[in-house]
Amino acid sequence: MSTKRQLLIYLKQGKGTWVSGEFLAHKMAVSRSAVWKHIGSLRNDGYVIESSRKKGYLLQQTSDFLLADEIREGLNTNVFGKRDIVYFRETDSTNVRAKYLAGDGAPEGTVVVSEMQTQGRGRKGRTWFSPAGEGIYTSVILRPPIPPNEAPKLTLMASLAVAEALLSLTSLKIKIKWPNDILINGRKVAGILTEISTDMDSIDYVVIGVGLNVNTQRKVLPPDIRQKATSVFMETDKVFPRVALLRAYLQWLEIYYGAFKTKGFDPILNRWKHLADIIGRRISVDLIDSVRVGKVLDIDKDGFLILQDREGTIERIISGDVTLLSQ
Ligand code: BTN
Repeated sequence: MSTKRQLLIYLKQGKGTWVSGEFLAHKMAVSRSAVWKHIGSLRNDGYVIESSRKKGYLLQQTSDFLLADEIREGLNTNVFGKRDIVYFRETDSTNVRAKYLAGDGAPEGTVVVSEMQTQGRGRKGRTWFSPAGEGIYTSVILRPPIPPNEAPKLTLMASLAVAEALLSLTSLKIKIKWPNDILINGRKVAGILTEISTDMDSIDYVVIGVGLNVNTQRKVLPPDIRQKATSVFMETDKVFPRVALLRAYLQWLEIYYGAFKTKGFDPILNRWKHLADIIGRRISVDLIDSVRVGKVLDIDKDGFLILQDREGTIERIISGDVTLLSQ
C-alpha cells in the first residue's frame, strides 16, 4: 500500500479528531516533511484536511472525486470495480478509453471513470454535456457470452441498474423512457451509450457508458438542453455524494448482469416495464429517416418496442427517440 493511502487510512481512523504529525511519521516510518507532502497530495485529490502546528491533521471532509479507492471502500461487488478502476481527472470520453482498454484485453468488470469529458458522446452522434465534478461519467467493460443481436438487452439492463441506484438512494420518482433514458419528473437525468465490438458471430466486448447528472445546476446547462435535462441536485436542492451513487450503480449492474446470465432476460424486462410507464401510451418515435406515431402495445422479449398505428399496423422498433403524446 502506498504511503499516501496509509496516511489517509490513519486520518479516517481519527474519525473527526486530530492526528499528530509525529504519530503519523512514526507509524509510516517517514519524515514529518514527507507526511506534509502527502497531505498536500491528498488535498489535491479533494480531501479537506485542516492542519495545525500543535495538533497535527484533521480530516474534515472526505473527497467526492470518483477516486478508485473511494469507490472500492464499501463496494459490494465481486467483479465490477473489484478489478481495474481507471480514473481520469479529464478525458475525451470514457467510452473511447474503455474501448481502447477492451481492445487491449482488459477484463470484464473494468470500470473507467472521469471527473469530466471533453468529448462526451451521446446516442445518435450527439454530445453529452460533462462538466467537471458534477456528474458521473463512467464506462464498464463486459464480455457477455451472447450473440451480438442480443446486445440491446444489455442497454435496457443498464438503464434499470441506473434507475435502481437512484431509487435506492433517493426518494425521487424515477422513470425509464425506452430504450434507455432515465427521467425524473419527465426530464432526463441520465443516458446510456452502449458500444459493441464483434468477432464473427460472437461479442468480443461491450462497453456500457453512463452519463448521470448528479450535482449539475440548471444555470450551467447549455440552453438547448435546459428544458429537457435535470439533475439530482435540481430535483432535491441538495448536493448528493457521487461516489455513493456510482457504487450503487455498479452493485445493481452486477446483480442484473448475474441474473441475465443465469435466469435470462425476462425478470429484468418485467422490472424494467414496471419502471417504464410506456405500455398503452400514445407516442411518436423519431427514427433515422422517418417518424412513427402510435400506441405502445408492449416491449417484446428482445427489448424491441411494439407499436400499433391508427390503421392497426403493428411494427417492431429497435431504437429511436420517443416522445410521449397526450392520449
Ligand atoms: C444518451 O445520449 O442518452 C447517452 C449518453 C451517454 C453518456 C455517457 S457519459 C460516459 C460515457 N462516455 C461517453 O462519451 N458517453 C457515455
